[in-house]
Amino acid sequence: MTSVFEAPSQAPAAVEIKGVRKQFAGRSRRSAGRLALDGFDLTVREGEFLCLLGPSGCGKSTLLDLLAGFSEADGGEVLVDGSPVRGPGADRGVLFQTPMLFPWLTALDNVLYGPRARHESGKETRERALELLDTVGLGKAVHSYPHELSGGMRHRAAFARVLINKPKLLLMDEPFGALDAITRVAMQKFLLELWQRERVTIVFVTHDVEEAALLGDRVCVMTGSPGRARLLLDVDLPRPRTIESTETLEFVRIKRQIREALEDTEAAR
Ligand SMILES: Nc1ncnc2c1ncn2[C@@H]1O[C@H](COP(=O)(O)OP(=O)(O)OP(=O)(O)O)[C@@H](O)[C@H]1O
Ligand SMILES: [Mg+2]
Repeated sequence: MTSVFEAPSQAPAAVEIKGVRKQFAGRSRRSAGRLALDGFDLTVREGEFLCLLGPSGCGKSTLLDLLAGFSEADGGEVLVDGSPVRGPGADRGVLFQTPMLFPWLTALDNVLYGPRARHESGKETRERALELLDTVGLGKAVHSYPHELSGGMRHRAAFARVLINKPKLLLMDEPFGALDAITRVAMQKFLLELWQRERVTIVFVTHDVEEAALLGDRVCVMTGSPGRARLLLDVDLPRPRTIESTETLEFVRIKRQIREALEDTEAAR
């Protein structure tokens, strides 16, 4: 177990969160607001896969929103690639638990939506979109509309839609939480292969201890009220990891460490 602020390698920082505070206003003047994050510090290195775990309401989504540029911190600094986040950008790809697709567009047009908005709709972009859809296993469904796709297929289409922008940072908020076990394993495998190949930086929120241990280089366990990074665990399991990795004794040991850290944070609430 390492302390909260130690980075695993000397790679440049992709994300620096320094003393961040986020306060939500109360509903009325008399009701107190909610201090969702306070004194939150975390550095994520380039190419790192960081998993974020913590009790419901501890501020995980709030933190991802700050990184995505969907909202602003009330204090502290949120830096991506050394620059303060000032709003959403194509350098950061965001995936939510519910796949974000336009229902009136086909899978292909959904993927091409971002590039078209940036006036990049040439033949090459279209070919890349088709290639990406093929990579995510939707080669035969490129002209299907979201309602014609299964839940897992919609997730993969949303994934392709994010990947077309070649984000350097992927922000994933429980992206596989709603999937059945088999699709979930397939998506985890796909994500690990992609990460291994492209070396993107990933911040991945999950409730699932096993998922965090399988995917992450490090696991940040958060505590709530207000949300803070409480513990950082190095997951020193060999890569590439596959579903078989979950059957090793070492994996069970890491899982136990994460679970105990989570139980500690629950007990301290
Ligand atoms: N827009 C908002 N207005 C007021 N309070 C909010 C808002 N968004 C979040 N909060 C509060 O901030 C705290 C953190 O919420 P957040 O959604 O970040 O938690 P979380 O860790 O993602 O939880 P979960 O695991 O359930 O998704 C919660 O107490 C929540 O009620
Ligand atoms: Mg959340």
